[in-house]
Amino acid sequence: MTKSPLWRSQICEQHLHNNLFDIRVIDELSSTNDYLLDEVKHRRIATPSCIVALNQTNGRGRQGRRWLSDSKNSLTFSVNYLFNRSLTESTSLPLVVALAIYDALNALHIDDIGIKWPNDILRQQKKLAGILVECANRTQHSSELVIGIGLNVGKNDLLQENVDQPLADCTNTEGVSPSREELLAVLLNHLSLYFKVFDEKGFHQFKERWLTHCLHFKQQVALTLPDGSTIEGLHEDILEDGSILVRHDATQSVFHSGEIRLRSIA
Ligand code: BTN
Repeated sequence: MTKSPLWRSQICEQHLHNNLFDIRVIDELSSTNDYLLDEVKHRRIATPSCIVALNQTNGRGRQGRRWLSDSKNSLTFSVNYLFNRSLTESTSLPLVVALAIYDALNALHIDDIGIKWPNDILRQQKKLAGILVECANRTQHSSELVIGIGLNVGKNDLLQENVDQPLADCTNTEGVSPSREELLAVLLNHLSLYFKVFDEKGFHQFKERWLTHCLHFKQQVALTLPDGSTIEGLHEDILEDGSILVRHDATQSVFHSGEIRLRSIA
C-alpha cells in the first residue's frame, strides 16, 4: 500500500478479514477501471488486485456517463477477478456487487440504503454509490472482470453542483462518516466472500436478499429502455441472469438493460 499521507494503510489492514485482493493505492489516476483493465489485459496483473485512486480525474460511469469524485470525500477503486463462468453466465454479477456494498454499508451502520436495478446504491433515494463492471479477458468457460466502485463518503456541495442527480453520502446525523480506509476494508471483505459464492453457485444464492433490499420490488416502475422508449409496469421478479421481469399492458416482459425511475423520485 502507498505511504501517501492521505491514506492510512494500518486502519485498512486492521479491518480486513479473509481479503482476497492485493491492495495498491495510487495518489492519482484518470480511471481505476482503465488502469486495471489495461494491467489485466496485458497480464501484468494476474491475481485478484484492488487499485485505489485517492484522486480520480476522469472516472467513467455506466452508459458512457462520467463519474465525478474528489480527492477528500470519495472512494474510487477497482478490483479484478477471474470467474469460472462464461461472460453470459456472469451477467448478474453487478447485482451481487450491489448486495455486497449494501451489506458492507449496513455493517457500518449506514442506514436508509436501498438497491435500484440493476446496481445503483441509493440512500434516502439519492445516489450513494455506482458500479461499473467490464470484461478484461474471456474464454468459453471463464471471464476475467474488472469491477469499479465509486462511493460518496463525505458531503461535497461542489460535487453536487456539477452532477445532475441528487447525491447521498455516508455521513451520520452528526455529519461523521467512516474513513475511506475502513470502508474499503469492509467492502473488500464482502466482495471476497460474495465473489467466491457467486463463482460456485450463481445468483440464486443472493436473489432473495437482493429482492429484500430492492427499492421497487412488487412496485410500479418506469423503465427507460436503451432506445429511449419507456415501459411502465409492475416489477415482478429478477431472473438468474440479472434481468428484470416487468408486468405491463397485460403481458410480462424481460429486460436486460435500462434505467428504472421510481415513482417516488420521478
Ligand atoms: C455508475 O454509472 O453508476 C457507475 C459508476 C462507477 C464509478 C467507478 S469509480 C471507480 C471506477 N473507475 C471508473 O472510471 N469508474 C468506476
